[in-house]
Amino acid sequence: MIPRHRPEYGLKDLLVALKPAEDCLCRISADLNRSFAMWVPSGRAGLSLLLRAVEAKAAIVPAFNCWAVIEGLAHASAEPVFVDIGQDLNADLNQTLCAIERASPGTVLILTHQFGIPICSASLLIEAARSKGMAVIEDGAAAVGGVSDVGPVGSAGDASVFSFQFTKSVLAGEGGLVLAGDQLATALKREGKDLRQRTRSESLSQWLKLAALTLFTNPRLYAFTLYRRVASVGTLNQKGSVAPAEVFEALPAPWMRNLASQTQSRLNAVLAARRRVASRYLEALRDLPVTMVPAVASPAAAPIRFPVLVENRNQVVRRCAGGGLDLGRSFSYVCSPGGFPRAEKVASQIVNLPLSQRLENCVPRTIEIFREAVLGG
Ligand SMILES: Cc1ncc(COP(=O)(O)O)c(C=O)c1O
Repeated sequence: MIPRHRPEYGLKDLLVALKPAEDCLCRISADLNRSFAMWVPSGRAGLSLLLRAVEAKAAIVPAFNCWAVIEGLAHASAEPVFVDIGQDLNADLNQTLCAIERASPGTVLILTHQFGIPICSASLLIEAARSKGMAVIEDGAAAVGGVSDVGPVGSAGDASVFSFQFTKSVLAGEGGLVLAGDQLATALKREGKDLRQRTRSESLSQWLKLAALTLFTNPRLYAFTLYRRVASVGTLNQKGSVAPAEVFEALPAPWMRNLASQTQSRLNAVLAARRRVASRYLEALRDLPVTMVPAVASPAAAPIRFPVLVENRNQVVRRCAGGGLDLGRSFSYVCSPGGFPRAEKVASQIVNLPLSQRLENCVPRTIEIFREAVLGG
């Protein structure tokens, strides 16, 4: 059974991570020209910290989004101001410009690079926000290694956030990084003062969880896992879920930060493999009645998923499961209610094909199963 995702580390990496190593925090902040960097418990915790640091009352975000973003906003008591999305699944340019124009004081622009696809016209959006005196936070949670028209993801706006959760290209299991300039350093330190170190048992259970994940996402073992059992019906969409408190409180343990360093040093190879896989899907599936996003394979992208829109999602998911491909329903993406037709359509039709470097050898079989599922085999 081909898993929906295989994280980009092996058991050996987990063992090596137990030894002291250089922290990648300085390397990443220097590469992105940010003078201040700090570890955070998760991407959503980083968003919350940043929103509190700039005293945001509201934030402009795409209506099709990861539920974790909505949790981050709620944690900071910032109201979401939704905008619909465009064909690249990122916030629509004109709607975002309108939202900036109409924004009330205290609104922040969040620049999201969904699935690692860099948002277009970032420079225009930043300029529009700046002209209104609005703070800009770059949500590069899923896009480490990507490049937008203003430079490497993470270097734009007033501050940025990355997620190092296990599905990302640089990973620590859980955790993230907040990057900013000097002007926000004091506020960020203040807002982050109550973050705590992970306890030994939290650290150990995270290590064991990652060890189990890398073992069981091996296609030969995947058939014995829980995910295999729910492949045709799916796991729950996380909309409305509430993350455990530690997601906002507990910093990554030292071994988790070491794992981030290791995976960061392999980032270019991982991204090259993912773009290669994406190009193969785009080529092999182009005659199917599905919608794909060519930008996933662009050299500027740092893709973490290969999104495909299909008409009859439940049926396609079921057929793929029957054929040996778990697409699951791991779509923890929300479409916010209230007139965002494109976001709504994407949220109801999206499936993700596996994109990990560690599943590259499964690409021919994935293509075969998916084609049959869509064409009614
Ligand atoms: C765009 C975006 N922002 C923020 C997050 C939150 O990251 P985390 O899961 O580390 O809280 C995610 C999660 O995948 C995301 O996709």
